[in-house]
Amino acid sequence: MFSPRATLLLLAATAAQATLQIIPGATWTATNTGTHVQAHGAGIIQESSTYYLIGEDKTDGSAFQNINCYSSTNLVEWTYVGALLSQTASVGDLGPDRVVERPKLIYNDDTGLYVMYMHIDDISYGEAKVGVATSSEVCGTYTYRGSFQPLGFQSRDLGLFRDEDGSGYLLTEDRENGLRIDALSADYLNVTEPVYLWSDSIEAPALFKRDGTYYMFGSHLTGWDPNDNVYSTATSLAGPWSAWATFADVGSDTYDSQTNYILPLGDGAVYLGDRWVSTNLMRSTYVWLPLTIDGTSVSMANHVNWTPDVAAGTWAVGPSETSPEAESATPGGEAVEVACSGCSGGEAVGYIGGDEASPGTLTFSGVSSGVATRSTIRIKYENGNTAQRFANVSVNGVSKVVAFLPTEDGNTPGSSSLHVDLKAGASNTVVFSTSGGAYGPDVDRIMVPVS
Ligand SMILES: *[C@@H]1O[C@H](CO)[C@@H](O)[C@H](O)[C@H]1NC(C)=O
Ligand SMILES: *[C@@H]1O[C@H](CO)[C@@H](O)[C@H](O)[C@H]1NC(C)=O
Repeated sequence: MFSPRATLLLLAATAAQATLQIIPGATWTATNTGTHVQAHGAGIIQESSTYYLIGEDKTDGSAFQNINCYSSTNLVEWTYVGALLSQTASVGDLGPDRVVERPKLIYNDDTGLYVMYMHIDDISYGEAKVGVATSSEVCGTYTYRGSFQPLGFQSRDLGLFRDEDGSGYLLTEDRENGLRIDALSADYLNVTEPVYLWSDSIEAPALFKRDGTYYMFGSHLTGWDPNDNVYSTATSLAGPWSAWATFADVGSDTYDSQTNYILPLGDGAVYLGDRWVSTNLMRSTYVWLPLTIDGTSVSMANHVNWTPDVAAGTWAVGPSETSPEAESATPGGEAVEVACSGCSGGEAVGYIGGDEASPGTLTFSGVSSGVATRSTIRIKYENGNTAQRFANVSVNGVSKVVAFLPTEDGNTPGSSSLHVDLKAGASNTVVFSTSGGAYGPDVDRIMVPVS
């Protein structure tokens, strides 16, 4: 047992650590591409202290483009590593106008191969198959091995699960019969037998195990639109499974998201979901939130931002923040105040960037932080275009390109995450300027952690 004083000291030590944040629903700019992370319908696989995020590239809409891989050691800053599979010029499962969704990876100890399963379909979702690909490197080039209907049944949304004894399982949505768990062969390359069938209509399956209990997550069937997702528990994959129950606030449509993966963190787990924007899929965002697990009871609160600590296996709610307004900062060049009804104070600063004679800039001076730390600034902005905008954002002289996805309705500001080193005291400077002559977003304000 810690004494109360030891606990306080521990808390104080924790408070001075980095407060890098996961911001559900925000633009997540990859560290090396300067564009929004394209890893939708994703799964994660962990190799020692590195996490690999594998998901769909939706840059150009719904048809298959790439299965992308990003890496991170903190779950917050993601670096694009490469495409594991890309569209082929020739007709076939990976050819033009194909559906390749929800890629998931597990590693096979016996063969030394990473095995990927993905949903393979035609553009009208009439084929309903799984595809399998393998590689000896987690984020290397994958060899596509073909597709089939598992045990002859339809398969659309899928997940993979590797149990502690090394057995592999396919989670598959069979529209005619329900949601299935099927056993995989020892090399994971085929499906051998059915393990369980829910006759309920549930898709987007993801399975997590803790202390001998299996937790199955999934969504109802409402297309790209979100619904109140559900979970069920059992002590054997063959059941009996408990009745489906909600875990997020009822009526919130799982905070406007759909399950794609459940990531273990410490002795808890993180929910990974997609907030699909069906009219412009590249601007779909990621809703990642910590789960609270108490025995067989699972719940999930919503958070604007939160900080994972992967080394400790813990998480904390977002720090308190100051929120300097753009209209109180210093515009330069062509940048001017613009009306913005959804913005705080009803104002933003627009015409940042551009390739005019004097490109617009916006300088926030005297930005304060209680400690010197690596942290996340949330930029509140508007972007009325249908494409991303970009800005060069420099913090204490270190600049990076930040992406800004289109905002929902031209009225509600969006958020973009910026991960930076802050100095202690009121001496930080944040400068927005053009990235390659482009116009940046209209900036409403920046949200800066106090500690
Ligand atoms: C995969 O398993 C199914 C069912 O057990 C079997 O019918 C099929 O031949 C297997 N496919 C391969 C390539 O081994
Ligand atoms: C970004 O802006 C900073 C000044 O704020 C400037 O020094 C740097 O050259 C700019 N970088 C690019 C790529 O434009």
